[in-house]
Amino acid sequence: MEIIIQTTPEAATAVAARTIALLVRKKPDAVIGLATGCTPLLLYRQLIEMKLDWRKVRTFNLDEYVGLAADHPASYHSFMAEHLFRHINIARKNIHIPDGLTRDVPAFCSRYEKQIKEAGGIDLQLLGIGTDGHIGFNEVTSSLASRTRIKTLTSQTRLDNAGFFGGEEKVPHHVITMGIGTIMEARHCLMLAFGRKKARAIAGAVEGAVTAMNPASALQMHPRTTACLDEEAASRLKMSDYYRWVYANKPDWQKIQPPFNGVGIISSGRRHKQLLSRNGTSLPAWTARVPGS
Ligand code: PGA
Repeated sequence: MEIIIQTTPEAATAVAARTIALLVRKKPDAVIGLATGCTPLLLYRQLIEMKLDWRKVRTFNLDEYVGLAADHPASYHSFMAEHLFRHINIARKNIHIPDGLTRDVPAFCSRYEKQIKEAGGIDLQLLGIGTDGHIGFNEVTSSLASRTRIKTLTSQTRLDNAGFFGGEEKVPHHVITMGIGTIMEARHCLMLAFGRKKARAIAGAVEGAVTAMNPASALQMHPRTTACLDEEAASRLKMSDYYRWVYANKPDWQKIQPPFNGVGIISSGRRHKQLLSRNGTSLPAWTARVPGS
């Protein structure tokens, strides 16, 4: 797993935003798995500011509450519309979010899996992490091979999400979520975590045993996962000095300079291939790096 520790959530988010921007520039019809919750809010703001071209991008959200209509203010449909979709030029037909009102949950879930496959699989899956290590809504003890299905939320997760509903008692008990097996098939998993309350879950996910008691630990078996963390979320990692050194000392050929306001510069060996801004001007080199490259 690639661990990138930055001083603030803003800086860690910027690494993730640049990674997504590069993907969209390289593959305009990329398939991106999206997440909800507090963690990606800053990311969505940064992506909006980047003014990427989302026309051909296809998205699949991780989860939705069972029983909530798309227009319910606390639904993930509403969340995504408010925080990302209504600010970008994505085509409506390319947006996929589980239907919380489906009458046939198993049939809906198999169709969701099929749609992901038909889209060619997920290029990049964005992930937050719950305080207990859940990813998507795969609560502790979820099968590490699970597929999209219905799950029952733990009381901790309902408490964590109470703010979105104005009270824990209003948080639904059931959700539809992509499974851990579904997430593991994404070609790149990009996990974000900020704040001390995520430190224990991150330590378990990155350096603990692979266990259904910390579902994110399954990502240790994923060939390409990047975790973008702030100092607090990284505070319980035993190997943090090593992760920092690795990130600060990537060989030149691994560095990809980030796009900035629609512009990116890719370094490949000694040659620098420049991605030009829309008006054709090149921009100064940028020193930060994006993960997994
Ligand atoms: P949060 O939730 O981003 O609101 O902390 C993360 C999660 O539950 O996956």
